[in-house]
Amino acid sequence: MLLYDFLKKVEEFNLPVSFGLDLASYILNVSYEDVKSLYYTDIDDNKVEQVFSQLKDHIPVAYITGRKEFYGREFLVDENVLIPRVETEILVEEVLKRYKNHGNLDIIDICSGSGAIGLTIMQEIANCHMTLLDISPKAIDISKKNAEKFNIKNNIEYICDDILLYTSDKKYDIVLCNPPYISFEEYAWLEEEVKKEPVIALTAGDNGLLFYKNILSKFPILCKNSGIMFFEIGAAQADDVKKIAENNNLYAECIKDYSLNDRVIIVHS
Ligand SMILES: C[S@@+](CC[C@H](N)C(=O)[O-])C[C@H]1O[C@@H](n2cnc3c(N)ncnc32)[C@H](O)[C@@H]1O
Repeated sequence: MLLYDFLKKVEEFNLPVSFGLDLASYILNVSYEDVKSLYYTDIDDNKVEQVFSQLKDHIPVAYITGRKEFYGREFLVDENVLIPRVETEILVEEVLKRYKNHGNLDIIDICSGSGAIGLTIMQEIANCHMTLLDISPKAIDISKKNAEKFNIKNNIEYICDDILLYTSDKKYDIVLCNPPYISFEEYAWLEEEVKKEPVIALTAGDNGLLFYKNILSKFPILCKNSGIMFFEIGAAQADDVKKIAENNNLYAECIKDYSLNDRVIIVHS
């Protein structure tokens, strides 16, 4: 099949053009940019059939290609980690606005998954020490592979543990966290593709608020005196999360994403 015809067929799955090009670059094993000059190249029919069968099974494109771009870098992903979302880049932006030129920061990325947030920050802020914490050993493995891919060898620590039961013996300057925040009721309405992502990466008890309650209550044991927390939140959770912060005698500020949805809550004492 010609690449041109492949891209036409991908359109039938209602995917953005960029996803078709990404799949084509995966099949042809060429860069995303080079695909555009290969429209009339013949591509392997077996690989094409395999990709269409995965798309029919609602496998997300990032799991098919095994990669996803986040903040300008390509992360390895598989079905054991959440696919990094573009909205999460807002959290990274907010951290960099405040800390890009600081040195020697102790930072923890709680619920680190692929490492998208923590490993990005490590490459954007010089000399920080990063801890990645996730309950899933397979997610930790992927984040280690990503660190290796980005040649990050020093100043990184991995903790495989349940944050809900975790009592830290170390305090941090910055806590980063994109926790699972979808309620069990909302989960039922998610698209089939999203349901291919690990359920533990998506859902949280207490109407989606469980992790905010737990982690904010640990502010004094997780944060140094001038410590700060950055959370991603669901679009309808800002008021609830701010209230949880206030109940813990903390101040909270909400930042919107580019679609003007509430997206990040920044908390300090
Ligand atoms: C929404 S994903 C975020 C992944 C990554 N930080 C990102 O932004 O793409 C949430 C992550 O939390 C992890 N997780 C779920 N329950 C947890 C728990 N009790 N303790 C620690 N990590 C947990 C999941 O394994 C998953 O990797």
